[in-house]
Amino acid sequence: MNYFFITGTSRGIGKALSEILLKKEDVKITGISRNCTIFHDNYEHIKLNLSNPEETKSFTFPTLEDAEEIVLINNAGVISEIKRIGQQKNENIINDYNVNIVSPSILSNNFIKTYQYYKNKRTILNISSGAGRHTVDAWSVYCASKTALDMFSENINIEQSFFPKENRIKIFSVAPGVIETAMQEQIRNTSEKDFSDVKKFVNLKNEGMLSSPNETAEKLLTVIENRDNLSDIISDIRNL
Ligand SMILES: NC(=O)c1ccc[n+]([C@@H]2O[C@H](COP(=O)([O-])OP(=O)(O)OC[C@H]3O[C@@H](n4cnc5c(N)ncnc54)[C@H](OP(=O)(O)O)[C@@H]3O)[C@@H](O)[C@H]2O)c1
Repeated sequence: MNYFFITGTSRGIGKALSEILLKKEDVKITGISRNCTIFHDNYEHIKLNLSNPEETKSFTFPTLEDAEEIVLINNAGVISEIKRIGQQKNENIINDYNVNIVSPSILSNNFIKTYQYYKNKRTILNISSGAGRHTVDAWSVYCASKTALDMFSENINIEQSFFPKENRIKIFSVAPGVIETAMQEQIRNTSEKDFSDVKKFVNLKNEGMLSSPNETAEKLLTVIENRDNLSDIISDIRNL
């Protein structure tokens, strides 16, 4: 059996990842988000608010010694407010860092603590963003949290090299491109006064340049399938 722990499964990329995986008989998924929208015998939903680190800490990974493969996908991510620093609500800054980097760090820590000495295939896939690799007006917290996710992933990769080869856990931080999800809708609906690049995102949509959650999820899953042949920890699915 292959076990997947995926955050942000109620919609968008996380839901698409789950629905593709659930077509296979040998997959069990534990999905984490505030809302549950998937109902399947091989799907268990855990309602957690990832903006509350105390709730994230309460999640424990089960023992799965006979698993063929165990995967954690830190997919949940948010931009609460598209506004420049100085105009942001402090609560939203705390919320977004908690969802985008604090909770993924806690879940990764607990995943590695639980599974480090297993010998089966174990992978952490962090869903990053191109916005973690260049600046974007009015997205400072989002950009900084994704940069942190990239660096966190690179560090873990180095740390894993100190364990015997058979016990090492693979980690990747992948930018998924621009995808037609609720997040993009929110971005397009921001006023130009708050976000100087809004037209660029409206044009991407009008020119049919957005990927679907499904095609994005398919590509992200190839990262896990090809994990032993991929040398880059930080990547962009548009270049894979
Ligand atoms: N869409 C894009 O163009 C794009 C581009 C680059 C990177 N990304 C990244 O891709 C990932 C998925 O994005 P998406 O576009 O699929 O977003 P989305 O459609 O807005 O879905 C976000 C998911 O995260 C969950 N989530 C948000 N806040 C949460 C919280 N406090 N606690 C628990 N779960 C929470 C939501 O579930 P609930 O609301 O039910 O809790 C939802 O399932 C994110 O990390 C995003 O940064 C997206």
